[in-house]
Amino acid sequence: MPPALMLPATTTKSQAMTPKAQIYKTAAAQIAAVIDGEPSAIARYATAACILSESFDSFFWTGFYLVDTYKPRELVVGPYQGTLGCLRIAFDRGVCGACATREQTIIVPDVHTFDGHIACDSATNSEIVVPVFDSDGKLAAVLDVDSTQFDNFDADDQAGLEAICKTLLIGAR
Ligand code: SME
Repeated sequence: MPPALMLPATTTKSQAMTPKAQIYKTAAAQIAAVIDGEPSAIARYATAACILSESFDSFFWTGFYLVDTYKPRELVVGPYQGTLGCLRIAFDRGVCGACATREQTIIVPDVHTFDGHIACDSATNSEIVVPVFDSDGKLAAVLDVDSTQFDNFDADDQAGLEAICKTLLIGAR
């Protein structure tokens, strides 16, 4: 009988996923399955907003602000889950505007300390905003997630949300 194969462990303790990263992995797979072959950006954003909102109890408001093609440097609300959101945000206003200007993810542990934060709902205490780029690398939208908990977002949220945003482009796989 041949000797038993000794396979290296595929996961070490340091590589193990956190519970939150695991939820993002599952959510990403669900989103990918639903939007596969769907060319409408609005339908893709709506799917992501719904699945992310359903995946995390701590997400109080989850949705997209789209770059308005008719008004330069202005965002207009897109698909979201949560209480009533502001309709428009200029690039020089709020966390969403700062994310759109810098084209970088912004995590705000306490929104009350962020100069210019827009309180669409006073129940929000922390938020993360992630840029969404189109296939030409141009800013298409931002994904805004708010929580009633302070300091709700960390590097796992950034990695999970950025990975999902990269899959939302039309035709992306
Ligand atoms: N808080 C955001 C505005 C959007 S809402 O909270 C839904 C901001 O400061 O940009």
